[in-house]
Parts: sequence; C-alpha cells; structure tokens
Amino acid sequence: MDEFITLTYNGKEIKLPVITGSEGEKAIDISTLRAETGFITLDPGYGNTGSCLSAITFMDGEKGILRYRGIPVEQLAEKASFKETAYLLINGRLPNREELTRFSVMLNDNSLVHTDLKAFYQNFPRASHPMGILSSMVNAMKSFYPELDTLEEEINITMTRLLAKVRTMAAMSYKISRGHEIVLPRPDLTYCENFLNMMFDTPVRSYEMKREVVNALRVFWILHADHEQNCSTSAVRMVGSARVNLYAAISSGIAALWGPLHGGANQAVIEMLTAIQKDGGNCAKAIERSKDKNDPFRLMGFGHRVYKTYDPRAKIMKKMCDELLESMHINDPLLDLARELEAFALKDPYFVDHHLYPNVDFYSGIVLRAIGIPTKMFTVMFAIGRLPGWIAQWKESMDDPKWRISRPRQIYTGSLKYDYVPIHAR
Ligand code: SDX
Repeated sequence: MDEFITLTYNGKEIKLPVITGSEGEKAIDISTLRAETGFITLDPGYGNTGSCLSAITFMDGEKGILRYRGIPVEQLAEKASFKETAYLLINGRLPNREELTRFSVMLNDNSLVHTDLKAFYQNFPRASHPMGILSSMVNAMKSFYPELDTLEEEINITMTRLLAKVRTMAAMSYKISRGHEIVLPRPDLTYCENFLNMMFDTPVRSYEMKREVVNALRVFWILHADHEQNCSTSAVRMVGSARVNLYAAISSGIAALWGPLHGGANQAVIEMLTAIQKDGGNCAKAIERSKDKNDPFRLMGFGHRVYKTYDPRAKIMKKMCDELLESMHINDPLLDLARELEAFALKDPYFVDHHLYPNVDFYSGIVLRAIGIPTKMFTVMFAIGRLPGWIAQWKESMDDPKWRISRPRQIYTGSLKYDYVPIHAR
C-alpha cells in the first residue's frame, strides 16, 4: 500500500511519497518538491538526507548493526577471506569455488604495476604523505590503462586492476620512501600475505609470515570494506556521477578518506595517544579538553555520525588487539592508555549524553602498529580495505537507470544586485 506524507503551506497541500527500505527504514521522496512548491530542503552535512537507494550495506546506528549484502560483519570477520568479502560487495553474493579461483587468478595476473609508474614515485619528495601519493597514482592509472569504462569486460578488468594493484602501489610507496628495492607480488601468496611480503621482505632478511598477523590484516580489511554513504563513498558516487573514469572517482575517494575527521582518524588517534602519553598519561585532562568548545582538541577515534552506540567494528578490533598483541608478546603502552581513555569517556556524562563511543579508528592503529605498519600509512591501509566498497557503490550507481549527475542546490545569502563600480570611483 503506497504511503504518503502531506505538506501544508499557505493553504496549499502537497503529498510526497514515502519510501520504505527492506529493513523498514523510511524516507520522504522530495524529488518533486521544488517543482510543486518552489522550496528546496536544507541539511548541512546531510545528516537527515539520503542520496540513493542501495542494496550493498545495511547499518543500524542505534543497534550497532553492520551487514554487507545481508551478512553480519561479525560472521565475515570470523569466517571469510578479504577476497571473498570484496567479491560479495561488488557482485552481491559470495563466490562459489570456481568463481573465487577465477577471481584469485585475475587478481594475481594484474598485481604488477606498469614499470613507468615507478618514475612517478621517485619524483615525490621522500616525506610525501602516502595518501597523497596513492590518490595521485590511482588517478595516473587511467593514463596507463586507457580502456573506456563502457563495456562489461572493460569495467571488470578496471575493477580487478584496482583491487590487484592498490596493494602493490601502497607497498611501493613505502619501499621507495625508505630508499629500498621494490618487492614484487608472488603467485604463491594470498592477497594479504602478498601485501605483507611486499612491505617487509628484504634481500637480506626474508619476511617471516606469521599466521596471526595475516589473520589480523584479513580482519582489518574486512572491517573497513564498506560503510554505506560515508564521506569518501559519497565522493566516489558524486565524482562518478559526472561519468568520469573509475580511477578518477576512486582517487577522489582516497582524497576524502585522508581527512582526520574520516579515515585519517586512525593516524590521528595514535598521534593523540602519543601526545597524552607525553603529557603524563592524564586521561581526565584529555577528556576535559575534548569537551571544551574553545579547545580544538577532540577525542579522535570517538563519535560517529551514524553509530550512537559502540561501533560493531570497534568491538571486533578491540578484541583482535588483545589477541594479536598477546600472541606476539607485544606490550604496547598506547593500548593500555587507549583502554583507560575509553573507560574514562564511557563514564563521562558528556560522552554518554552525546552518544560518543569508540569508532573503527580507535583501536585500529594499535593493530597496525603491532603488524609493523608505519603511522603515516595507517589511512592507506583503510583505503585498501575500503576499495571494494567504493567500487561496489560506484558500480551500483552506474547501473542505476535513474542515476544522474549529482548537483545539490543552495540558499543564497550574499549581496543583493548592485552595479559594477569603475576603479577610479572606488
Ligand atoms: C570514520 O561515516 C562513516 O561511516 C565514516 C566511517 C567509515 O567507515 O567510513 O565510519 C569512518 O570516519 C569514523 C570517524 C572517524 N573520525 C574521528 O574519530 C574523529 C573524531 N570524531 C568526530 O570528529 C565526530 O564524532 C565525527 C566527525 C566522527 C562525527 O561528526 P558529526 O556527526 O558531525 O558530529 P558533530 O561534530 O556535530 O558532534 C556532535 C556533538 C558536538 O558537541 P555539541 O556541539 O553538540 O555540544 O558531539 C561532539 C561535538 O563537539 N563530539 C565530540 C566528538 N565527536 C563529536 N566531542 C569530543 N570528541 C569527539 N570525538
């Protein structure tokens, strides 16, 4: 039965359709609002505005639920490989054995990076941030792989190239930043093993692949794989709506993710914990500062636009932290400090009233430190994990017959009309 809401203004009534999602979420379809009333809606930050219908990821921020194509993230983190999760997000279902084998072969066969791309890396200043390098290199891929994004097979090869090469490009930027030889991907290693080997293997000391580290990376990337219409995914959809190539759309997603309010928070959390540690580990002082409107300090890794309870990914990440550090016999003082800070915050009335809980970034940096990832690469790790989600969301928007260029409206608050004043009269 069709549902409507009725708006009344100046004696005029208009009926707007109500859309109901498969989990019962409701939206008012305002696509005829301006034509019927001359009004637009205004929602800075889009906290109340849906940009699309999507069948990829479901989040319930009040209950702390996250599912990829209907499968709870907890089950994927426990049982799936990152490759399977990427396939699930992009294709809408888990692959059978034959499909997974074919996907693995395609990823392996496309995991090398065009040798001429190496020159690009060597011309970045050594201290360049790896997110700026990654965004540039992904954009540059269009120059090296100029196929059009029109035919099904060309789109498939472009998606596979991105998934296959992003690890190699990330590891290359790390090796080159250290003045080390690049390590190439190997056909005998899994997706996660290959990345670790490309990052840490050297001619003088073979990288010792540890099961618990490979598993931690698998879970880390699964937890980051998609998160419906977050800032960077919305950037990919927005830029993609102009029908630009997929590489450019993904490059814009990487740029958005770099921000400390978004994916850059995992690096900012470690920098914050280190600063608190240097300041004597005073958690009470940090909590008070984070509440002070005159102090720009915020508790990084806390709070979320959607989750008003514990981020389900943070729960898994926190548990994985404990298990990984114990199995590796690592005692990271920042983990103890993070736990203490969380305990302080969760008891603080301000944090309780504002529904501020740890998000995915609060413990993820501790996991990455244990794996040996340098802090400046933390957000690159987030980007590698989020890539399948960005691709899936881009593909869903491109396949939507109703999708058109994204072009929001505005309410003008500037000067009223006045004439140009010649320079001699100013
Ligand atoms: C990610 O969208 C996604 O799904 C993103 C993500 C994904 O997977 O793609 O989950 C990944 O980006 C996680 C978030 C990582 N960012 C951080 O950890 C940075 C710290 N957090 C905040 O900056 C903030 O919580 C945001 C950016 C995450 C959310 O910002 P909102 O929804 O715009 O909320 P807000 O800034 O308007 O804050 C509402 C209130 C304010 O207080 P009042 O003015 O109402 O009194 O809560 C306060 C804020 O001051 N607040 C915080 C706080 N976060 C919000 N106060 C102290 N510390 C914080 N971290």
